[in-house]
Amino acid sequence: MRRKLAAGNWKMNGTGVALSELKALRAAHPSSPAEILICPPATLLHRAAAAVEGSEIAIGGQDCHAAVSGAHTGDLSAEMLLDAGANAVILGHSERREDHGEQNEEIRAKARAAMDAGLKAIICVGESLNQREAANTLDIIGGQMSGSIPDQATGENLIVAYEPIWAIGTGKVPTLEEIGEVHDFIRARLERRFGEGVGRSVRLLYGGSVKPSNAVEIFGVSNVDGALVGGASLKAEDFSGIIRALE
Ligand code: G3H
Repeated sequence: MRRKLAAGNWKMNGTGVALSELKALRAAHPSSPAEILICPPATLLHRAAAAVEGSEIAIGGQDCHAAVSGAHTGDLSAEMLLDAGANAVILGHSERREDHGEQNEEIRAKARAAMDAGLKAIICVGESLNQREAANTLDIIGGQMSGSIPDQATGENLIVAYEPIWAIGTGKVPTLEEIGEVHDFIRARLERRFGEGVGRSVRLLYGGSVKPSNAVEIFGVSNVDGALVGGASLKAEDFSGIIRALE
């Protein structure tokens, strides 16, 4: 039985004031059958971790370096995220692939480092609109999965997030059939590579314009175990609506 997961990615949003949203979220969900994760910008990790201490809410990073330490100005290692109170990290988000030219091989190395440090790696995959229109979606997702998921993946340390790039922050969402097709494909690929036990235990998140108003129907799709939420995770009230749709 896979535990449902609502993961919020604050991206490059939020200063100290935003912690009030985290406190409101904590108050609204003193307990939850679903796992709740908030990934704030790195500058807020320590304070966010303190704000949710002893609660149901976990904290995650938005990226990490593949190395344990060294001369990498501006970067953070997986161990540093763990030390700051994170238990997970988002890797290979399309915005990092786009803004920082991240390729599958680098994402795989980062995921290895995250897993070695004891973090859960949320590895993002997803196609562009051109790729979807050219009917290449499954090829693209399959390539991203084999390129970026490391061999030591398990149901505990790996979460895969399917985020069609054209659905991120646009208000456009694939049809439920399209979401189902990709999630079933991801599940089948995981089972083929890692065996049925591991393949069935990895959680699969959908991401891209998830809101309280469309969450229930998206969560009803087979092999959707939760969501990776951007914009609607910034306000406790909106994110609460999405969490409730999982409960
Ligand atoms: O990581 C989150 C995704 O990029 C989705 O963002 O919910 O604002 O569309 P969004």
